[in-house]
Amino acid sequence: MAKGIESIFKPYLQPKEVYKGGKNIPPSDQKIYKLSSNENPLGASPKAVESLKKAADNVALYPDQTDIRLRQALVDDFQGTLAIEQFLTGNSGSEIIDMLLRAFVNEGDEVIFSNPCFLPYSVFSRWYGAKQVDIRLQDPDYALHLKGILNAITPKTKIVFLTSPNNPTGSYIPKAVLEDFLNAVPKNILIVYDEVYRHFADAPDYVTALSYVKAGHNVIGLNSFSKTYGLAGLRVGYCYTTTTIANYVRLIHKPFLLPLTAIEGAIGALADTAFIEKTVATVKAGRQFLYQEFDKLQIQYWPSQANFILIAPPLPEMEFTNRLMDHGIMVRPVSQFGAPGKVRITVGDEEANTALISALKKIKPA
Ligand SMILES: Cc1ncc(COP(=O)(O)O)c(C=O)c1O
Repeated sequence: MAKGIESIFKPYLQPKEVYKGGKNIPPSDQKIYKLSSNENPLGASPKAVESLKKAADNVALYPDQTDIRLRQALVDDFQGTLAIEQFLTGNSGSEIIDMLLRAFVNEGDEVIFSNPCFLPYSVFSRWYGAKQVDIRLQDPDYALHLKGILNAITPKTKIVFLTSPNNPTGSYIPKAVLEDFLNAVPKNILIVYDEVYRHFADAPDYVTALSYVKAGHNVIGLNSFSKTYGLAGLRVGYCYTTTTIANYVRLIHKPFLLPLTAIEGAIGALADTAFIEKTVATVKAGRQFLYQEFDKLQIQYWPSQANFILIAPPLPEMEFTNRLMDHGIMVRPVSQFGAPGKVRITVGDEEANTALISALKKIKPA
């Protein structure tokens, strides 16, 4: 007898391992402050919104078959330091992670990441039958375990994911550590350097992937329009890398991949310097305010280079999250990201941060 349809399902696709992402704001009469998905506290870039609204008039037509206009805008944004063929765009940073896995990973290959980290590295790599190798960040400050990663590399390793600033810890990879790693890593391994929170980093030894791409390392700098530009709902991301790697990945870049609205919105956002500066200033001021208040409340936190802060909540994580929600504050428990018992809180604007602190004062045990 013929076998059922399940017999052709891929054995490594398991329902329990689906990535759901953060929750939306539930319907409520109460004012809700959403500090759970690291969105922009100021909303969207006004220039982006203006551009995408204009583009909406033309959505009866296919967009440009390629993403060349957006890539040209990226060349300008990078002040001509990279060539147009070194950029690739996609329907969000997450989709680019998927694109890279599709391009490089076969069943049985190995992918290395370091928990606590962004869940899609592991979940998406399972879709291609990859073996996940988790070399955890090291206590107490979530430092990269450089030696551990190098020791874990085998002939089957295809991709190493590094994230700086890292989600959910807010930690970063110091320049010297990254350079030691890049100099030691074999040349047949792709390093995906996820820098989607890069604008918020101000540590003197914070670095992006740019100079390493220029020096010819097999590194990809992964970026998103969801954070600094406030376009999480538009789903646009990009990456830059060496011409060799970019031209290879472009072999699977679909024509008409990006919606016209996304292309035009992203181009508008790149030009919105005032909005970018205001966003970064708001996040940095908010971070300092929250550190001070957490200190006063004796809540343990990890200093962050991103637009969120990881804390050890004063109550069990789910109880803490639910009780904050009763006060209209949404935060994200991050056990799923490999940080059991911890909670990640997005830095909001002044009003949201003040509301958060007053809610914390109400729920914190004496
Ligand atoms: C570390 C990291 N990388 C990539 C992304 C992807 O962002 P998006 O898919 O919204 O572009 C996120 C989003 O939260 C993230 O935290």
